[in-house]
Amino acid sequence: MKYGLLSDIHSNLEALNAVLKEFKEEQVEKNICIGDIVGYGANPNECVELIRNNNFESVAGNHDLAVIGRQDIEHFNPIAKESMIWTADTLTTDNREYLKQLELKKEFPGFVIVHSTILEPEEWKYVRTTLEAHRNFKELTKPVCFFSHSHIPIVFKEKERPEFSFDTSINIEENIKYLINVGSVGQPRDKNPKACYAIYDTEEKKVEIKRVSYDIKTAQNKIREADLPRMSAYRLETGE
Ligand SMILES: [Fe+2]
Repeated sequence: MKYGLLSDIHSNLEALNAVLKEFKEEQVEKNICIGDIVGYGANPNECVELIRNNNFESVAGNHDLAVIGRQDIEHFNPIAKESMIWTADTLTTDNREYLKQLELKKEFPGFVIVHSTILEPEEWKYVRTTLEAHRNFKELTKPVCFFSHSHIPIVFKEKERPEFSFDTSINIEENIKYLINVGSVGQPRDKNPKACYAIYDTEEKKVEIKRVSYDIKTAQNKIREADLPRMSAYRLETGE
């Protein structure tokens, strides 16, 4: 089975369309979304609808839950908070209902998806260090966990001590567990402004982290025209 995995679209329609085009070209058989469909960008409805209409299996991110009032926004930074209020105001009832039924974790044959951590999915913690990875490996019963939240693609491998790498081509070996951050479609933060996604080919036992260019200028203009925080537009071109 060939899975296409993406996360952290953050209402960036141009970036999402570019990744969906890649999924088609790669002949992806199952589409998977790891949360944060909305927040920051100017096209929340269009992005939720593309996820719904393309039969994605999805989990909720913290922004998805904040927008439907299930997540306190007090800890959000001022930019995220302002975008959240605008998004909550803009989302249609149907799209809001879609976000409401998303769960925090979802299992598939051989892997699990979660936006933040499998250990405490509702706490919105990060897996950025080998120590954090170690704690989560103890909770992981499947060979692979795909996650995101930090918007930075990274791979943790469970060995005697967990190891990390920024490899973009990962051969899934037997008897080793993996935590794989698939990066962000619409708000990359690893200084690479291209949209990020992952392809998992279970027959080849291989995960590839890939990037694709998209029309950043249009996404930026829409953010400015909607009078959303300008920082959300600016950072698209720097990828940080
Ligand atoms: Fe996010």
